[in-house]
Amino acid sequence: MKITFFTHSTCILEIHEKHLLIDPFFSKNPIFRNIDFLKFTKNLEKIDYILLTHAHYDHVCDVEFFSRKFTNSLVISNYEISNYFDKKGINTYGINYGSFISFPFGKLKYVWAVHSSVFDDGTYGGNPGGFLLHTDEGNLYISGDTSLTYEMNLIPNFGKLGLSILPIGGRYTMDINEAVIASEFLKCEKILGVHYNTFSSIQINKKQAKKIFYEKGKELILLKMGESIDI
Ligand code: NI
Ligand code: MN
Repeated sequence: MKITFFTHSTCILEIHEKHLLIDPFFSKNPIFRNIDFLKFTKNLEKIDYILLTHAHYDHVCDVEFFSRKFTNSLVISNYEISNYFDKKGINTYGINYGSFISFPFGKLKYVWAVHSSVFDDGTYGGNPGGFLLHTDEGNLYISGDTSLTYEMNLIPNFGKLGLSILPIGGRYTMDINEAVIASEFLKCEKILGVHYNTFSSIQINKKQAKKIFYEKGKELILLKMGESIDI
C-alpha cells in the first residue's frame, strides 16, 4: 500500500492498483493560495474512490471537481453525505457505522469519530466518522477529525494495524499528546500525522511532535506535500 500526502487530511492510497482519494481539500486550502492546485494535481492518472470522513469544507470542498474529472470514481461516505452528492449527479455509495464491506481494494468499515459534520450550506452531514481498511496490503485506520475517544480501543480487536492516520493539530481535533494515547488504544506503532499547520490555529512543532511519539516507543511520520510512503 502506497500513501501520498497532500497537506491537511488529503491523501491518496494505492491498494491493488486502485487509487483512493481521502478528504480532498485543495481549492479553499490556504497552503494552495500561491500554488496552482490544478497544476499540482494534473499528473494524477486516476481516482477510483473518494472517501469522505465528514462534511466540513476542509474535507469535501473538491469532491465535485475530482468526481467530474474522474467520471468512473465512486464516493464512499456516510448516508447523508452520499445523498448530498448523489443529488448533484455523482456516483455514491452510502454507508453507516456497521459491518465491513468488501470492495476490490479490500474490506472497509465506517467507524465512530467524536466531532461534528455539516456542509457549508447548512445541510446536515450525518455523523462524522473514520475508516478502517483491511486489505492484503496491510490494515489502515483513518480516524478523520476526532477527539480522543475510548472507542478507539475496539479497533485493534478487528486486526493488527500497520498504520493509523490521526489528526495532531489540536483545537478541533486531538493534539499530539492525545494522539499518543490514541496510538496506545489502537496498539499501533506507526502514526501518520495529519490536520496540522494548514491554518494558524493548528500549528505544531514537527520536531517536538516526533520526539513526543518517539519517547513513547511510537513513530510519528510527517510527510511533505506530495511525499509518499509504502506500508
Ligand atoms: Ni472537521
Ligand atoms: Mn477538519
